[in-house]
Amino acid sequence: MVKSIVSRIRSLKKEKNAVILAHNYVRGEIQNIADFVGDSLELARRAMETDSDVIVFCGVDFMAETASILNPEKKVLIPDPGSICPMAQMLKRDDLVKAKEAYPDADLLLYINTLADCKALADCVCTSANADRVVEAMDSDTVIFGPDRNLARFVEKRTSKRIIPIPEYGLCPTHHQISVDDLLLEKSKHPGAEVVVHPECVIEIQEMADCIASTSGMARHCSISDADEFLIGTEIGLIYRLERELPEKRFYPVSETAVCPQMKMHTLKKVEVALELERPVVSVEREIGDCAREAIERMLRIS
Ligand code: 13P
Ligand code: SF4
Repeated sequence: MVKSIVSRIRSLKKEKNAVILAHNYVRGEIQNIADFVGDSLELARRAMETDSDVIVFCGVDFMAETASILNPEKKVLIPDPGSICPMAQMLKRDDLVKAKEAYPDADLLLYINTLADCKALADCVCTSANADRVVEAMDSDTVIFGPDRNLARFVEKRTSKRIIPIPEYGLCPTHHQISVDDLLLEKSKHPGAEVVVHPECVIEIQEMADCIASTSGMARHCSISDADEFLIGTEIGLIYRLERELPEKRFYPVSETAVCPQMKMHTLKKVEVALELERPVVSVEREIGDCAREAIERMLRIS
């Protein structure tokens, strides 16, 4: 059954000149068939560089939107359109308008985990892989930053800028629930393990980590580190990739319940159907897309 779906996906990909891009958190079955598996920054770059006519994007809504914004002439498909990032939903255009009025001289820098209508108002965007570098490259000493409160704290500690977080409590539910108690328990079970976490974790977890990085940055750290055991503080899908790429090392989730349900919505069957029917299509209104592209391209130039 799985074998026949996989071979059908392969032939549809060829027939339609399609590429499958997948985020590090998606199901293992999707990681296995993807042409590329990576973090938000890598996926944006891949989407920009591809010469395929169709991009099947196995990630959440804002990632597929970013691919579409960078490739308005290409067809971007999302196998399950219910794959909606709750953090991106926490920021509204009105929040941005109000913040810009309150801090007229500040730069507006948005995490890539935002929807296109918000990106269209931003001076620049960033991902977890380049947030500190991009914040430092902003013109103003004050930077309005959203929606992730925990990533805002991360950049606040690493840059010389004054950070104004918006909204007040923007967060990723999957990362925010990883607790210090979870980490203390896992450390007691694996005392020699390095602690590698994502900056969407709460600041107390970040402060206990040996490495804080984007999902692919976490994978790079594990591959070059001398350690052979790691406590992984992020969505558990990354562990599938780590175990596949580094079979000689051991990986333990800081929290077994760190699951992003939206990332798990894409299945092999849905990929097959999306390729077959060439839908659901992700599209962004032209005017919004043009403004958002400027903010994304500025980030790509900086990093
Ligand atoms: P990365 O860019 O580090 O892959 O993170 C994306 C994300 O949504 C983390 O929750
Ligand atoms: Fe959004 Fe969090 Fe899921 Fe990442 S893990 S896609 S930030 S809800």
